[in-house]
Amino acid sequence: MIDKERFAKLFNQQLIKDITQEEIKIVLSGQYGKALELLRDAEATSLFPALIGPPGVGKTILCRYFASLRAKEQKSRNFYWLTMDESIKPSHFIGTFDPAIVLRKGFTLEAFNPGPLLNAMLEGGTFLANEINRATEYSQNTLLEPLEEASVTVPHLGRIKANKDFFFICAMNPEELSGTHRLSEALKDRIKVWIKLDYPNKATELDIIRINLPEHFTIDESELELIYSIIKETRKNMIDIEIPASIRAGIAMAKLLGRKRELEEKEKTKEKKSAYLHLSEIARYVLLGSIKPKPGVNVEDVVDNIIAKTVGG
Ligand SMILES: Nc1ncnc2c1ncn2[C@@H]1O[C@H](COP(=O)(O)OP(=O)(O)O)[C@@H](O)[C@H]1O
Ligand SMILES: [Mg+2]
Repeated sequence: MIDKERFAKLFNQQLIKDITQEEIKIVLSGQYGKALELLRDAEATSLFPALIGPPGVGKTILCRYFASLRAKEQKSRNFYWLTMDESIKPSHFIGTFDPAIVLRKGFTLEAFNPGPLLNAMLEGGTFLANEINRATEYSQNTLLEPLEEASVTVPHLGRIKANKDFFFICAMNPEELSGTHRLSEALKDRIKVWIKLDYPNKATELDIIRINLPEHFTIDESELELIYSIIKETRKNMIDIEIPASIRAGIAMAKLLGRKRELEEKEKTKEKKSAYLHLSEIARYVLLGSIKPKPGVNVEDVVDNIIAKTVGG
């Protein structure tokens, strides 16, 4: 256990005080440039947008980047987000009273710990409601007042007006059925810009893999292409696969291959193993947990099949 003093020191060292301090490596070609433009349009017209798309297509990174642009324009300093599921309650958005302080002082401002939505509303920050369709309708309803009236009512304290720069974005994956409540009609009616993101085109996806690869790793174009062919194969098989490999899986494979190449270089291995050999192993490690098969389908069989079709082995 670390002592309190050391904890405080480390905490302050590592604390990100505003989002402009964060380096965000983002590719803005293809669908991403367009989506960013739409976010800016939505902001300029005070309409609230939703980003819709499967896991790992870049919804969160785009919101983060958008929030960082707003921060640089001094609109707001902070980006808040909350990922929802059925256990999320209104208090997770708005905040809670500290029972120990309430006992001594009652339901005072001092006893209240604000939640991320309230913080964003007070500061004029950007709030991302991630996986919003997983929240129950009861929790989704917490968002109606903030979106409709630009205010929020905190129990015992009163009704608070949002700073004029407060901006709300939500993200969801509409295809995923298990564990999702639908977006309530009331909430849907308040979201006016629907931005769809899908798996990017090849050039964009390769750029994304490159930008996420540590600088000391070098892998060839032909090797990148091979990685892409594996990823692409998972997205073709809609019969066996419910959720195919995301961008993250491609990045992971590229990193592992980069590491193998680096070791071969260091150890002056006479014969470099072919990318096919490396990738038939690497793809197995990565894909096992990166794709979600349809019910009743064995994930190992699907992975074997993909490897056989792309890199052999
Ligand atoms: N346009 C992009 N530029 C750079 N990296 C991206 C881009 N889109 C996705 N990524 C990378 O892909 C991964 C998944 O992105 P993320 O935003 O978390 O997806 P989602 O929120 O849709 O699940 C992250 O590691 C992110 O860095
Ligand atoms: Mg995300």
